[in-house]
Amino acid sequence: MDHPTWHGIELDAETALALLEWQAEMGADEPLLDAPLDRFDLPAPVAAPRIPLAAPVAPVLSLTSEDDDLPARVAQAEALAAQAGTLDALAAAQEAFDGIELKKGARNFCFADGNPAARVLILGEAPGDEEDRQGRPFVGRAGQLLDRMFDAIGLSRRAVDAEKALYITNVLTWRPPGNRDPQPDEIAVSMPFLRRHIELAAPDLIVLMGNIACEAGLGRRGILRLRGTWDQAFGRPALPMTHPAYLLRNPPAKREAWADLLSLSARLDGLS
Ligand code: URA
Repeated sequence: MDHPTWHGIELDAETALALLEWQAEMGADEPLLDAPLDRFDLPAPVAAPRIPLAAPVAPVLSLTSEDDDLPARVAQAEALAAQAGTLDALAAAQEAFDGIELKKGARNFCFADGNPAARVLILGEAPGDEEDRQGRPFVGRAGQLLDRMFDAIGLSRRAVDAEKALYITNVLTWRPPGNRDPQPDEIAVSMPFLRRHIELAAPDLIVLMGNIACEAGLGRRGILRLRGTWDQAFGRPALPMTHPAYLLRNPPAKREAWADLLSLSARLDGLS
């Protein structure tokens, strides 16, 4: 029996059904044209040049904290991050760094998950309760939705092939108590580690999930205006998207998230 194909990939019946269900859940519940239109069969966008790592773009965070010792803590974070030559060394240095109060209240250090060789890096906000328990980003309800979203365009954190893989991290590596918003000083001391993290992982594209990731990557918030428009963050092409936690609270917004996923998929094809 012939297997259905999607985007050139042969699918088994179970995967094809899951893909259909996901599309329906994203709002694609009726055909708009009489004949199918392959939206991936568009002229390939011009490949964006890779920006040299020597010139990372560091957005300026506006710090309102009156914490006198903050510049020293940021300088220490900069020095530790600069010394780390591998992701393992960086994770060890960041975990050992005591210049962030959140560390005292968290259960586990939450550095990253997925395949570090992936072309796509997803940047979230901070660990929540389940992430804090497991020491891995995006493993709670929002993370499960994130996995289904990216599965629908053929990307997975479990993929060995870098072309189909995801690498996932957060702006903060320690859980803020009660899932409160990260504070400016917490972001400031985490930024040197995050910039080095992205340099070492060297993804082709970054997805900025929600406002805190946009603040870290672009230096501004306003995700409902920013989403869907490609920008540059950490010296690489970056796509702001609404956070899966927001999509869980606002299911109609899945329609736009689906459009953003298609844009990501098309850009990846253009860069291939
Ligand atoms: N939300 C995030 O932004 N990151 C996580 O790891 C989990 C939930």
